[in-house]
Amino acid sequence: MRHGFGAAFAVVMVLFSAALLAQTQRPVPFTETPPAPPLAADVTDDLRKIRSYPDQPPVIPHAIRDYQIDLNSNRCLTCHSRPYTEASQAPMISVTHYIDRDGQVLATVSPRRYFCTQCHIPQTNAKPMVENRFVDIDTILSRQPQPERR
Ligand code: HEC
Ligand code: HEC
Repeated sequence: MRHGFGAAFAVVMVLFSAALLAQTQRPVPFTETPPAPPLAADVTDDLRKIRSYPDQPPVIPHAIRDYQIDLNSNRCLTCHSRPYTEASQAPMISVTHYIDRDGQVLATVSPRRYFCTQCHIPQTNAKPMVENRFVDIDTILSRQPQPERR
């Protein structure tokens, strides 16, 4: 019984990976090693992107390669923390980044907001593997019939 499930699961996973691969690469005989597909290029146009909803962590519109974030230094904060925004012209981390999980406002960035790339990610020009059908709230509202005013 358990083996039956394991085998079925393995078959499903193989089919699933095959389906994923089929989207990105042409099939090749297993005896050949095809060249790896080229890496997608980072989007570094410095243009701030629209947020899909107000609480979305904005995506990063610039290069972050080799930016160090560890116990001793945080490269992001050298531009985005309050004291440095005049020189860097970077948007300041918002007040939420100074609030700890108990709702206390701290003098510096909260530990839970220290590792920026946990939430903020750069983008690449890779072709999406599946179509994105997300519709934002403004689009939904604009489709609703307007309520009658009294
Ligand atoms: C050298 C200064 C500098 C450093 C270092 C830096 N940034 Fe930025 N960042 C900017 C500037 C300036 C902008 C405004 C858009 C632009 O010019 O790219 C920006 C924009 C952003 C935005 C978009 C904000 C929005 O409202 O759309 C995010 C998110 C961001 N940075 C995150 C990061 C993270 C995370 C790191 C570290 C991995 C980092 N930045 C390191 C200067 C910097
Ligand atoms: C736990 C997730 C999380 C972490 C970690 C985090 N952020 Fe954010 N960030 C957000 C969210 C969510 C928003 C949008 C809502 C808000 O302002 O809280 C945001 C907003 C921002 C903005 C836009 C502020 C504005 O007013 O337009 C910047 C810039 C930014 N973050 C930079 C950083 C940097 C730099 C770090 C690392 C020191 C960091 N964030 C760490 C979730 C996070």
